[in-house]
Amino acid sequence: MCKMALYKGLLTMFILLVVYRPDEFIKCDDPVDHVGNSTASQELGYGCVKFGGQAYNDVEHTSVQCYALHGIECAGPRNFLRENKPCIKYTGHYFITTLLYSFFLGCFGVDRFCLGHTGTAVGKLLTLGGLGIWWFVDLILLITGRLMPSDGSNWCTVY
Ligand SMILES: *[C@@H]1O[C@H](CO)[C@@H](O)[C@H](O)[C@H]1NC(C)=O
Repeated sequence: MCKMALYKGLLTMFILLVVYRPDEFIKCDDPVDHVGNSTASQELGYGCVKFGGQAYNDVEHTSVQCYALHGIECAGPRNFLRENKPCIKYTGHYFITTLLYSFFLGCFGVDRFCLGHTGTAVGKLLTLGGLGIWWFVDLILLITGRLMPSDGSNWCTVY
């Protein structure tokens, strides 16, 4: 009796999962990058003007284009917009690596070169990390999240 109820419960749970979690059956594009052009964003009606941000409220959200995969029956349209995707991208920058670069090689600007801040990196190299002051300031900026990759991407998470 008990086993039967458990079995029925599991079956119901499985069906609910299939019905309400269709993520396995659709594919969604990455958010469109309008590279700061808000006119283009308004014309298309969705997409990201700016990427990045840490807190939820700092991050832009947008709709993305999604498609039902081949061989999946669809009651609605096969292409549709899904709302509320964060405008976040990852381009292979790790916080801990950057921090180590900054600590050991920051006086040569290696941290800023890696993040893509090439102009300031050259300045930092030529002044040998602002004779230590810039070196120290950048460590603080990194730790407080105010020195980020120049392409607006977020730190990759290490799992
Ligand atoms: C922004 O996007 C619009 C529409 O796509 C385009 O006409 C315009 O040239 C773009 N502006 C810039 C600065 O790229």
